[in-house]
Amino acid sequence: MSAAPLRDFVADFARLLDRRPDEADLLEAGGSLLRRLVARDDWLPQAFARPDPARYQQYLLHADAAGRFSVVSFVWGPGQATPVHDHTVWGLIGMLRGAEYSQPYRAQDGLMKADGPPVRLEPGDVEAVSPTVGDVHRVHNAFDDRVSISIHVYGADIGTVQRHTYPAGGGRKPFVSGYANTLLPDLPTP
Ligand code: FE2
Repeated sequence: MSAAPLRDFVADFARLLDRRPDEADLLEAGGSLLRRLVARDDWLPQAFARPDPARYQQYLLHADAAGRFSVVSFVWGPGQATPVHDHTVWGLIGMLRGAEYSQPYRAQDGLMKADGPPVRLEPGDVEAVSPTVGDVHRVHNAFDDRVSISIHVYGADIGTVQRHTYPAGGGRKPFVSGYANTLLPDLPTP
């Protein structure tokens, strides 16, 4: 197992941000970099690929020293799902192993409603989220009998970002996701 693919990805992504692209260019060029990273599944160490029987796990792989972006492995146990949630910053999701469904949501009459069909991500696929292109979704492992893993890139240190979940009954609840591999105290999670 080699760390080179992730190291190259982080260096390329930092160079991309050095050019200060607008969001559309960033999502396109960054999406291409992420597609290349998840085109192969031989670089993620087992410590960052471990599922937990109780809930999905988010392991921090890299946090940019200037706070411009972070890279996370998102590990689904069989059948696990997120609540409906937002991000508040741009994000790119690349499928590494297994598959997941992302159901977009949109505000309608004061409630978050499913908006169109769910998107199924297969290994090598990349999806974008942001307040501009659509920021609210619910995601679940496509499999009830195996682990799935996606690699996420966000325009902030995502584990520390104040964001929201959207309960079925309406309204929104603040949450901070934290990381499964953190030295900081536990943060409230949905
Ligand atoms: Fe998400």
